[in-house]
Amino acid sequence: MKDKKLKVGILFGGKSAEHEVSLQSAKNVADAIDKDKYDVALIGIDKSGRWLLPNQSEFLINATDPKLVKLNKDNEKSVALVPQSGGELTDLSMGGTHSSIDVVFPILHGPFGEDGTVQGLLKLAGVPFVGAGILGSAVGMDKDVMKRLLRDAGIPIAKFLVFRHGDLLDLQSISDEIGLPFFVKPANMGSSVGVRKVTNQETFDQAVQDAFNYDTKILIEEFVDGRELECSVLGNQKPIASVVGEIVSTHEFYSYEAKYIDEHGAALEIPADLPDAVSQRVQELALQTFQTLECEGLGRVDCFLRRDGTVIVNEINTIPGFTKISMYPRLWEASGVVYSELINRLVELAIERFDREQKLKTSF
Ligand SMILES: Nc1ncnc2c1ncn2[C@@H]1O[C@H](COP(=O)(O)OP(=O)(O)O)[C@@H](O)[C@H]1O
Ligand SMILES: [Mg+2]
Repeated sequence: MKDKKLKVGILFGGKSAEHEVSLQSAKNVADAIDKDKYDVALIGIDKSGRWLLPNQSEFLINATDPKLVKLNKDNEKSVALVPQSGGELTDLSMGGTHSSIDVVFPILHGPFGEDGTVQGLLKLAGVPFVGAGILGSAVGMDKDVMKRLLRDAGIPIAKFLVFRHGDLLDLQSISDEIGLPFFVKPANMGSSVGVRKVTNQETFDQAVQDAFNYDTKILIEEFVDGRELECSVLGNQKPIASVVGEIVSTHEFYSYEAKYIDEHGAALEIPADLPDAVSQRVQELALQTFQTLECEGLGRVDCFLRRDGTVIVNEINTIPGFTKISMYPRLWEASGVVYSELINRLVELAIERFDREQKLKTSF
């Protein structure tokens, strides 16, 4: 007899500047997931943070346009996941419950999704979920804490300074310390939102003001002149690294526009044209980064290759862009793991972690 299909809840959208990116990743996963193995429940989070069960067949408006794509709120049902529900969704409009979710695949980028908040909720609900747990998600999201942990593990990174809202920031003393130009970014964000290159007082003032729009803590980082290399990591306790890819941006840097708006903003070179020793170094650093930051499931580790041939780590993304044409799945495809197989493996890893954690004692 055939096993009962697992129900995968794809949790997407969210209260973040990366809402639109998430909508497109969710559509791609819903389309590609193995329907013989899994049933799918699409759970959309709107920009105010409400959880909705949208119309399952037409859950997006303007699905193919990154600028206009929107969650379709016709016939939506408002739902919630409560502690110990084991994945059962409570219907907030009608009362009662909807069929239970067996595994959640959160495809939420940035704060309120990639940062441990949703992971905490899923853990309280008692449902397996794809990707890093609470700790890995939280440290992966906070560039300051992430970089301090990497530095502590001896992983090479760029020099950076941290400032909090209300601190006095002086261009001269900052550039004395890390040179000019430099980069300013919010500590907790992604998709290059709030990231700017500073070359003078005017761009400095704008960059600082903009970064503080997104977080109360910002990073100021030395400018790294080099190539941008990315490596996908997959696994729990014994992760593996994909081939290495390169981002070749046509903009001044890999900005939000270059990532999502401008069709010609960036090319993905897969695999990157690199000496073997450099690829191996990137893979090694990617695995070390993933483990140092307590990640599980998946992560995309982004590095810079400096002109002198050394590699440094820029960041990890614990829920990387997951559209079919995104770097994370494409690197796996080039490494022999096609998109639908990648989804299978991620779901299996989620269940493996959940079962492992279930075996732990919760009382003495
Ligand atoms: N220190 C740096 N030197 C040079 N370019 C940088 C630096 N930091 C960021 N960038 C550029 O800005 C982009 C976004 O910055 P990143 O730190 O990756 O933030 P995000 O989490 O938003 O992707 C990078 O892909 C790169 O193009
Ligand atoms: Mg980045």
